[in-house]
Amino acid sequence: MSDHPELALNGGEKAFASRTGRAQPKVGVEEFLSIAERFGFKPDALERLRKTVGNEDLEGNGPNLARYICAFPAPPKGEEFERLAKEIFGVQHALSITSGTAALHCAFHAVGVGPGAEVILPALGFMATSSAVALLGGKPVFCDVDESLQMDPARIEPLITEHTVALAPTHHWGTVCDMDPILEVARRHNLKVIEDCAQAPGARYRGRHVGTLGDIGCFSISAYKIIGGGEGGLVITDDEHFFARVCQLAECGGLWRPDRFGPPRWEGELFPGTNYRLSELESAVDVIQLRKLENVVGRYRRVSRRILRQLRRFEEITPQKVNDSAGEIGYMLRFFPARFELGVQVCEALRAEGIGASMRGPNRPPDWHIYSDMVPVVGADPQREWRPGRCPRADDLFARCIGIGVDQWWSDTDADCVAAGINKVLAAYCTPADAPPGWL
Ligand SMILES: Cc1ncc(COP(=O)(O)O)c(C=O)c1O
Repeated sequence: MSDHPELALNGGEKAFASRTGRAQPKVGVEEFLSIAERFGFKPDALERLRKTVGNEDLEGNGPNLARYICAFPAPPKGEEFERLAKEIFGVQHALSITSGTAALHCAFHAVGVGPGAEVILPALGFMATSSAVALLGGKPVFCDVDESLQMDPARIEPLITEHTVALAPTHHWGTVCDMDPILEVARRHNLKVIEDCAQAPGARYRGRHVGTLGDIGCFSISAYKIIGGGEGGLVITDDEHFFARVCQLAECGGLWRPDRFGPPRWEGELFPGTNYRLSELESAVDVIQLRKLENVVGRYRRVSRRILRQLRRFEEITPQKVNDSAGEIGYMLRFFPARFELGVQVCEALRAEGIGASMRGPNRPPDWHIYSDMVPVVGADPQREWRPGRCPRADDLFARCIGIGVDQWWSDTDADCVAAGINKVLAAYCTPADAPPGWL
């Protein structure tokens, strides 16, 4: 007989048959409640939440906030978000992602933007778009705008060079770009089109959702946007290869692939990437936010159209040009006074009427929504390529534009009061135009 105890392998007792240390969930009650507390739930509601969340003994396994380690039988929230996005936008592929900027970074890379490549984007938008191009070593080329404040399709062609890879129309401030002529130029020059829809989810052009007209659509679900959840984003496309490249940059660990360790299925499929995976907690919020999209957009449209239909025309006032009056969202009314001094008077009088209105004016503070101020991207040298003056329409319209925020929850009476107030103020300072009322 040996002195050695029998190995478990040979029928002996197990050395570590069962654990006695009690595990805590990896993400548990306190983490969930620390979020709930921020929303001001009353103590008894918090106590009920505590009991509910603490009810399950999940040991060290969860609940987890990562889509690939979902402790529950239900599908991960990230997947649900993507399924819903595909359904709403009617596209083949959707990827939930950490932000609109991440979405743009992946989209530009997917279509081949890299060192030396040029991307034409509007002189007005937000720095995230040009930043995503620059991050890849590409060069943003700013296209001047027209009175829709969107990129002017007539000014794109002269900017195209042998290095141009893509156009990035940005549907900003809830309005839409004139996509037909933009797509026409892209087709003629064999350029890809990345639509930046961060500020306009749910807007449509000729009946189609923005984001589905070009090659890839990028959205932000950040708290600042109309269906904002917290910090989130979305990429949509019908192109399988672009989608795989988006996924590869967003998640280089390859968990998205049918065979994670398989060789590349086609040239350009695999390359070093990063991690832009959306957390399950944010995805859970974004599923609900995305479900609200049509209603939110519908409310904005109803209120803004009701106001616009009632507005009278004046010689000194040019309403923002509308590229698709049925499709834009309309969370902001915009118009251009003929002179700054008039704009100052109009804004002051509107505010006195209880209508929030603002104009940046000629001495406006720096702003990351205009090309020349995007200093981290274009540099700060006074002689920089994209200094003020390069896109004169954008310089002028950005400073001279009067904006009035629309509230989706305004009643018909509220909308009528706002319309009456705008008419009252404009009539006091401007000359009535010989044109039927209505700005639509
Ligand atoms: C036009 C535009 N593109 C992209 C972004 C970036 O989105 P996110 O803040 O989710 O990164 C924004 C955000 O303000 C935006 O306005």
